[in-house]
Amino acid sequence: MRATIASDENLHYPVLLNEVLSIISPQNGGTFIDCTFGQGGYTEKILEFPKTKVIAFDRDSKSKNIAIKFKQKFKNRFEFYNKKFSDIDSIKLPKNINGIIFDLGFSYNQIRDKSKGLSFNHTGQLNMKMGYNKISADDIIKKLPAKDLEKIFKYFGDEKNSKIIARKIDKERNIKNIDTEGLVKLINLSKKNFTKKNKATKIFQALRILVNEEISELISGLSKSCNLISDGGIIITVTFHSIEDKICKFFFNTISSYKAVSRYIPINKNNDKLAFNLINKKIITPTNEEIEINPPSRSAKLRAVKRNNTKKIDTKFLFNKFENLLKIEKLSKKL
Ligand SMILES: C[S@@+](CC[C@H](N)C(=O)[O-])C[C@H]1O[C@@H](n2cnc3c(N)ncnc32)[C@H](O)[C@@H]1O
Repeated sequence: MRATIASDENLHYPVLLNEVLSIISPQNGGTFIDCTFGQGGYTEKILEFPKTKVIAFDRDSKSKNIAIKFKQKFKNRFEFYNKKFSDIDSIKLPKNINGIIFDLGFSYNQIRDKSKGLSFNHTGQLNMKMGYNKISADDIIKKLPAKDLEKIFKYFGDEKNSKIIARKIDKERNIKNIDTEGLVKLINLSKKNFTKKNKATKIFQALRILVNEEISELISGLSKSCNLISDGGIIITVTFHSIEDKICKFFFNTISSYKAVSRYIPINKNNDKLAFNLINKKIITPTNEEIEINPPSRSAKLRAVKRNNTKKIDTKFLFNKFENLLKIEKLSKKL
């Protein structure tokens, strides 16, 4: 998993937790939106401070069970919505929002859940649905044309052997059903591996991105958040792969740097205050100690920005910049 895979099977380690807390300062109170509630690791720590409130979202219906316990404990200081974070504006939100947090990817519980088929170490039918999905990885592998598979593997997985793998899938699926084990075997036969990573990592990432429409989710979530956060409020993202980090980096740099803003958003000459400030010029990554306790945290990257005024931001530039990735994501609409 991402943020919460632990080396000890029974433990849950929210990634970069101390860093997140030190940026949002919940000791001062305030209302925070946890866009990716998961097992409630961040939410719980925020709510330990009095005068805080958390409004949480998670697309996975299984998060509801944890949320019920939080509700019993924290009462009206906690609200949970089993929704995608792209729907953040579909509920009535308070006027003052001090922080919005995105801890992207999937949770320890999700990767251990065999029915979700997120891990290449499991057996069984391909799935990868996190919640509120239209298609599964099985649909993609069974039905998408080889040319589309190749594009998805190339752009969402940065897979150099995308053509060979797509062709092998196309050949094999005419003969037999390809399940998780079958796909892993097929990838292993198609690739020489010179890295420590499992050979199937990139293809599984690509399928997961498409099944869960992770590109449009992130772009919509960020785009809406920047106009929901209050003056002085903070948006934080914790990313785990280069595509999501690229989107967050571009977005945060654009809304907080004069040069970038002037290129994408025509900025009024009198408007000397930029909409956001970058909190950390350099990305924040886990310490060696954290990586030792929780090895999957090693790929985490934290970025954060602080709202500087209340001017509305036109976020069309973000959709335009990643138009190509959004188009590839739409290939699933053929199914
Ligand atoms: C890495 S986990 C979050 C872990 C959490 N910070 C914690 O400490 O327990 C990511 C969670 O985000 C959820 N998620 C991913 N994409 C989502 C989306 N677009 N909308 C809502 N929830 C999403 C997943 O279902 C998963 O539970």
